[in-house]
Amino acid sequence: MSDLLEGFLGTSVEGKKSRVPAKLDYFQSATGLFLGLFMWGHMFFVSTILISKDFMYTITKMFEGSFLFKEPQSWIVSAMVFFVFVIFIVHAMLGMRKLPINFRQYQAYKTHAGMMKHDDTTMWLTQAFTGFAMFFLGSAHLLMMMVQADTIGPYGSSMRMYGDVMWPFYLLLLLAVEFHGGIGLYRLCVKWGWFEGPDAKVSRKKLKQVKWLITGFFLALGLLTLAAYVKIGYEYSNGLVDKYKPTAQIEVTYDVKVRA
Ligand code: HEM
Repeated sequence: MSDLLEGFLGTSVEGKKSRVPAKLDYFQSATGLFLGLFMWGHMFFVSTILISKDFMYTITKMFEGSFLFKEPQSWIVSAMVFFVFVIFIVHAMLGMRKLPINFRQYQAYKTHAGMMKHDDTTMWLTQAFTGFAMFFLGSAHLLMMMVQADTIGPYGSSMRMYGDVMWPFYLLLLLAVEFHGGIGLYRLCVKWGWFEGPDAKVSRKKLKQVKWLITGFFLALGLLTLAAYVKIGYEYSNGLVDKYKPTAQIEVTYDVKVRA
């Protein structure tokens, strides 16, 4: 029996309780932690547009190796996206083991969740639902970023949001990511006993408060960022502003003109 199948069934050929599910659980936690922390960084990167178009441009070019190469190398970003994509798919596959796979199981689960009125159980349902949605939305976003890495920037990203009407897609993805990531990181802390004080109940309560604070913060940041891209995209689409050019480039053109 393959390791993966063993993981799904929880027993080995000999019928003994397998250690594979524990290993898969460990990988699910590790990939989840990576993706959760990656998303914090990602949200800060995307939100640089709130500071200025120039700042977002500079950071984008930094990811394209501006400190090493003269010309932007967008393949570096494509390669990074590919790496994240692999981790994302592994995490999703491991997560799917735990989805209630048939309707009866789901009904039993719902009755259980309703009866217990237990926060953690309801959180699990939210996480399963947002995880399922993200499998499609996240994959589409990652594919798009991988093949169009060269379009990332104040102009390209804003036009994608407004001109290509991708903002409703991003809004759904943002909600799914923030709820899924917040709950996921909270559950990781509880599962592995991170930040646990002498009284586990008190620690859990505090962790839940921190979880809500973090989710609220990134949701607010994400919504503001989304609004900024949409506004800029609207301005470009309606000819209210010129297509973005980095300030450094404008200065160079000016220098050349003066010298001529
Ligand atoms: C290395 C991988 C990634 C890159 C390079 C990347 C890049 C970007 C860029 C440039 C944007 C701005 C909009 C655009 O240009 O289309 C964006 C927005 C967004 N991305 Fe990613 N992304 C990556 C991975 C992910 C992952 C794994 C997720 C979650 C599954 C995600 C979720 C989002 C969300 C929710 C937004 C909207 C942000 C907001 O409203 O503030 N991204 N991403």
